[in-house]
Amino acid sequence: MGSDVVVVGGGVIGACIAYELAKAGARAVVMDREASGQASRASAGMLAPLSEADGPGAFLDLGMEGLRLHRPLAEELQERTGIDVGYRPTGLLRVALNETDEVAVRRRRSWHMAAGFSVGWLDPARVHDAEPALSRDIRGAAYYSQEHQVSPPLLAQAALRAAADLGAVVRMGLNVEGFLISGSRVHGVRAGGEQLECDEVVIAAGAWSGAFAELPPALPVRPVRGQLVALQTVSTPLRHLIYSSGGYLSPKPDGLILVGATQEEVGFDPRPTAAGVAGLLHSVARLTPTLASAAFAHALAGLRPGSPDGLPLIGRLPGWSGIAAATGHFRNGVLLAPITAHLITDLLLRGRPRLPLEAFDPARFAVRAA
Ligand code: GLY
Repeated sequence: MGSDVVVVGGGVIGACIAYELAKAGARAVVMDREASGQASRASAGMLAPLSEADGPGAFLDLGMEGLRLHRPLAEELQERTGIDVGYRPTGLLRVALNETDEVAVRRRRSWHMAAGFSVGWLDPARVHDAEPALSRDIRGAAYYSQEHQVSPPLLAQAALRAAADLGAVVRMGLNVEGFLISGSRVHGVRAGGEQLECDEVVIAAGAWSGAFAELPPALPVRPVRGQLVALQTVSTPLRHLIYSSGGYLSPKPDGLILVGATQEEVGFDPRPTAAGVAGLLHSVARLTPTLASAAFAHALAGLRPGSPDGLPLIGRLPGWSGIAAATGHFRNGVLLAPITAHLITDLLLRGRPRLPLEAFDPARFAVRAA
């Protein structure tokens, strides 16, 4: 028996797509080969579109819509599954550690305010009122009350469970090896020695999305390693997300503090390294010296799916029918998971996405190559 949609990849993006498709009444199957290095399992879960965008435009609009969808999604998933996905409206302090930082932070704040966002400026005394554990060297901070966080592994787990409760089939440990193709139409997948017919395939395989050579042109997605360090505190000394030019700190409800992140082009190598961990611990010492006494919990690394222009690929594959991409989200897969899921569901089931997708159309790379 066939299904309506096969989603290739069960990280946050694939999980949220399966959930939205199932909610809309589609028969979805999610397949995930559980490769080590999946970005969703090694991500701090910052929901920070203003901190990640370089200016106004389609990417910021997508990020703001992604952020807006997280709170209702978290509430819905908690109701359906009982899982608290760790959504917390913590706010983010973008701190300046030196004069160069301060110029950059103030400049970013200026364009944010010119674009209509409310962003406060805290002088050093107010930074220390807000976060007494931060270093006395901090020269000031921009305060983004609108930037929040979530726990990515819990979000993926809850979305998959909710999708399954609605009838989706979740097949973990299954590698999609290729596709069933007739002419220019994809009508199924080959996985684990089986063939599964379907109406539509969605590639949401993160850094591995470029691996399907039989669908030229291959998706131009490459792995960009991000290492994190997890420190365990008894009662967390931080209330906000802390973002600096040297790294970020994400305090979680259970006292864990995730410190991120490296950005390395080392292929499909998902191992944390001595140099990566040393660099992250150095930035902890500069930002919050008191965390030197926190217990070292573990180090982890994930492979972000990078694209040539840093923007995601969301939409149908050029030259093919029956297949779409939802990948290349680079540093923002968690933030963009809910909006990507809505857009793919719109595209596949309703024919018309709720936001313009030109900037994210996978065809933009095929056009350039032609
Ligand atoms: N979203 C932050 C990072 O990828 O490191």
